[in-house]
Amino acid sequence: MLLNLKPLNSFTIATMLGFSLLIFFCYILFNFPSATTSQIPIPKSQSQSQLQTPPQSDPFKNLLGAFKKWDLEVGCANFKQKHVGLVKRDVKLSSLQVGVGVGEDQCGELKMDHVGVLVKGWTWIPDNLDNLYSCRCGLSCLWTKSSVMVDKPDAVFFETTTPPFRRRTGDPLRVYMDLEAGRKKSGFEDIFISYHAKDDVQSTYAGGLFHNNRNYHLSPSKNNDTLVYWSSSRCLPQRNQLAKRILSLLPHHSFGKCLNNMGGLDMALSLYPECAKDPNASPQWWDHLHCAMSHYKFVLAIENTYTESYVTEKLFYALDSGAVPIYFGAPNVMDFVPPHSIIDGTKFKSMEELADYVKALANDPVAYAEYHAWRRCGVLGNYGLTRAASLDTLPCRLCEAVSRRGGRDATGF
Ligand SMILES: *[C@@H]1O[C@H](CO)[C@@H](O)[C@H](O)[C@H]1NC(C)=O
Repeated sequence: MLLNLKPLNSFTIATMLGFSLLIFFCYILFNFPSATTSQIPIPKSQSQSQLQTPPQSDPFKNLLGAFKKWDLEVGCANFKQKHVGLVKRDVKLSSLQVGVGVGEDQCGELKMDHVGVLVKGWTWIPDNLDNLYSCRCGLSCLWTKSSVMVDKPDAVFFETTTPPFRRRTGDPLRVYMDLEAGRKKSGFEDIFISYHAKDDVQSTYAGGLFHNNRNYHLSPSKNNDTLVYWSSSRCLPQRNQLAKRILSLLPHHSFGKCLNNMGGLDMALSLYPECAKDPNASPQWWDHLHCAMSHYKFVLAIENTYTESYVTEKLFYALDSGAVPIYFGAPNVMDFVPPHSIIDGTKFKSMEELADYVKALANDPVAYAEYHAWRRCGVLGNYGLTRAASLDTLPCRLCEAVSRRGGRDATGF
């Protein structure tokens, strides 16, 4: 059916023209800023920072070039405004021990000015934590695995072995650490160390000591076609299933024993020979971990269990390698990482949606670079605290706790 349109009379035409002119003048007057919001649908939980660049498909390789573009189109000042809440750290923190250790105003709480800690039995703690530390408030802290260095310790430290069942006044304080997801106390400790803020002393996984002796050569060039790095050699059924679902949707390299698609183990060095630390030595997988990861825009990181505050080295390796982690793990992970630095896979409705998001980011240098902004605009948000509460600073923080309790003088059995 044809609409029977009346011919427009001159009044209507004049009115329409008038309106058009009005709109045109408004446009000029207010000089509407060019839209800078992205076509990439960033989930709300990820960020409010929708960059609007016209839809583009640029499977860039040059990371530093992407940073330059981001500087021009967004920049640190805008970024800090977008994340002002996090930058100001006005988030309620139940994830991190705030004011880790003692502040200068709490120096009076310390009862000793020197503490010796003897590490007993087998432990994951690397030998090079052994040191004499100068801590806050003039406290010195001798941390050692040798009873020659400290024959009368103020505290004895256990990780994989159980402390003595009893402690008399005059005996060293018993310290027990369990950094596994279960956070199991021995039942015989005076001071308990684990990854949760509620523990006597918190130790996050965000420290350099979790990855000694590694090759820190990082590639400034990213693969443009293979987007995701994955390596896992503990093939837990649930993790494997999840990895399979997401990896089937994204071009990836899987280097470990689980879902290996590289034709064998230890193939990273043949792909990236520049990652070899010492061409004559037989390589260990951890030697070239960061270097290998750095060739990818994304690193998949899946925790063994999704436990509050259990954010392990899997995530921090990826961040430290200059990749963007796609993370499945602790529900409160955002409290531990810099603003807009990771993709929380659990916040997507489906794996397809997540994969689409990752692919769009990989083709948008500005949106991708935004995930690296935190390293280039100053360490923002809680991340400073996360690092400050790592294993790297454990000796001082433990010695402070021992000193506060009076060491061997603390009342015991
Ligand atoms: C990746 O880069 C190579 C070489 O620069 C190019 O030949 C190839 O087409 C690129 N792949 C994609 C998906 O753009």
